[in-house]
Amino acid sequence: MDAAQIMFKPGLMKGERILVTGGGTGLGREMAEAFMMLGADVHICGRRGEVLSETAAALMAAHPGGGKVHAHPCDIRVPDAINDMVDAIWAHGPLTGLVNNAAGNFISRTEDLSTRAFDAIASIVFHGSFYTTLNVGKRWIAEGSGGSILSILTTWVWNGSAFTVPSAMSKAGLNAMTQSLAVEWARHGIRANAIAPGPFPTEGMSKRLNPDGTGGGPMRDQSGGNPMGRVGEMHELCNLAVLLMGPGAAYINGQCIAIDGAAYQAGGGNFSALTAWTDEQWTQAAAAIRAQNEKDRAKRTV
Ligand code: HXC
Ligand code: NAP
Repeated sequence: MDAAQIMFKPGLMKGERILVTGGGTGLGREMAEAFMMLGADVHICGRRGEVLSETAAALMAAHPGGGKVHAHPCDIRVPDAINDMVDAIWAHGPLTGLVNNAAGNFISRTEDLSTRAFDAIASIVFHGSFYTTLNVGKRWIAEGSGGSILSILTTWVWNGSAFTVPSAMSKAGLNAMTQSLAVEWARHGIRANAIAPGPFPTEGMSKRLNPDGTGGGPMRDQSGGNPMGRVGEMHELCNLAVLLMGPGAAYINGQCIAIDGAAYQAGGGNFSALTAWTDEQWTQAAAAIRAQNEKDRAKRTV
């Protein structure tokens, strides 16, 4: 990312120590880069060890004057694994921020889901994000240090999303967590906010939510369905993340802020358009998604 696209002064985030779950790829990687460019030390976690180490090395090479990036292979579905990771981080000092960004998702007719398929998504998004928040939050409360939580949601937290029901349910739960903890933990100096991005194309998302490349759902916005005629640019998301996680805007608490070019207001920002898909299209989509899942699973080290 070009430093000129970030609207904050160099060094703004010096002294911050932020854990970005799922920080090895996609939006998590971009936000990690913005934080470290501005001086924060950043911890990234995910299940593919090599992806994490490559990201950490690439970001530090690109920004030699920035903060350090530490890679932690960790599956956030496993509470003990989270505890071990957070112990290892805390051994060098407390975190000041947590970004709940890791997620799993794919489009499917709900009647085609097994209970295991539901759990595959809910265990990452709903359970994993809560487990991580609880582990870090308890330490902040015990130490009286406070901290900032940012969860990456979607605009479906307000209107649901046909064909991504486990994700919509889980993200809506995290929106409730954000609003609840903002109140409950404010007295401990802990803030909780969220961002609801519209389409910001990433490999992880595009391969599972737009597997045939025709642009169903929010991805149709690439061909002009978005009121602004385009998808999001990563630096735009990063500027919002820095605003929420950095010093200077500490009175923002309990909010979920959309960054989607008004896609939500225009068409709901979700996958309702896929009601037009045929059985054949769903069969092809499921095959393509499963192939991507298999490819990614082969790289997992935890
Ligand atoms: C129906 C499916 C399916 C499909 C998988 N399953 N794909 N069912 N249709 N297309 C079923 C499997 O058959 C299995 O059930 C169960 O789901 C678990 O599948 P696994 O592949 O074994 O799961 P696992 O290896 O744990 O992988 C988890 C995952 C995977 C969620 C399925 O996609 C993943 O790891 N994703 C991480 C990255 C990611 O998804 N990024 C995108 C985030 S984008 P059975 O019963 O057969 O055993 C995002 C964007 C939102 O959230 C906003 C956009 C605007
Ligand atoms: P992505 O690149 O696939 O990111 C998901 C990340 O989560 C991956 O790095 C993945 O790494 C990690 N992850 C998944 N399961 C994990 C687990 N059990 N433990 C630890 N890490 C895990 O997709 P993305 O598009 O950047 O999505 C990032 C976030 O933005 C998600 O919360 C998504 O819902 C949200 N979002 C994205 C968009 C968009 O347009 N891209 C729009 C709205 C919201 P491993 O597989 O290696 O574990």
